[in-house]
Amino acid sequence: MRGLPRVVVLTGAGISAESGLQTFRDNDGLWESHRIEDVATPEAFAANPELVYSFYNARRAQLQQPEVTPNAAHTALAKLEQHLGDHFLLVTQNVDNLHERAGSERVLHMHGSLLAARCSHSGESHTWKQAFDGSTPCPCCASPGQLRPDIVWFGEMPMYMDAIHDALSQADFFVSIGTSGQVYPAAGFVQTAREFGATTIELNLEASQRGSLFSESFQGPASKLVPDYVEAFIEQLSVS
Ligand code: APR
Repeated sequence: MRGLPRVVVLTGAGISAESGLQTFRDNDGLWESHRIEDVATPEAFAANPELVYSFYNARRAQLQQPEVTPNAAHTALAKLEQHLGDHFLLVTQNVDNLHERAGSERVLHMHGSLLAARCSHSGESHTWKQAFDGSTPCPCCASPGQLRPDIVWFGEMPMYMDAIHDALSQADFFVSIGTSGQVYPAAGFVQTAREFGATTIELNLEASQRGSLFSESFQGPASKLVPDYVEAFIEQLSVS
């Protein structure tokens, strides 16, 4: 049987919108009610850590609400991973854990995770599910005030970039789901994938800023588009 195609999927906040989590740049988005420079930069954390703690504590608490669960798009990607194994890689800009809760295992969180805290002293990341503030002792150095959200802020280097570039250079398909394509380096992945010869597909509620760079672009809600796309992709695998 021909070798399985290599697929890299990039997700953004749009894939979690139907699970009840706010996106950033839609009308009710997080950046409509908060300024990035107040809650999502190292300078913001240095100037007013309590405000930054409260921003991420609120998002973590929302994620832990019982009604916030993976939707059909998350589940479909987990199913595609089951078919492709190590020929599949999911890169997410999202800091929620809905992909993992849907069963995805090969997930790279390039912007970090709401359910982790990082020691500012050692850089070590710790699973973290409860609210924290400046007085919370750090698990690794026991000193209070060392913990920060394990989130990649604006001006910081996203994570796993070498692994992501390596995967893009070998991808047969690059599928972008639920992202506005406004934040680099993720916004540049489609161009990289094209340069290495991949077929590029965008599944988004509306055409993103990078929409014209994709071989194919479909608009609609992720919970409908993604399962349909995955079913067709798996069907294609079975006949090839
Ligand atoms: N189905 C599919 N797409 C959707 C849905 C939906 N139900 N709802 C919204 N979208 C689309 C919007 O049309 C938009 O293009 O999801 C995209 C969300 O864009 P953003 O809010 O900009 O989120 P994202 O692209 O993930 O932002 C990237 O910016 O602020 C930083 O670090 C933050 O990871 C984030 C990065």
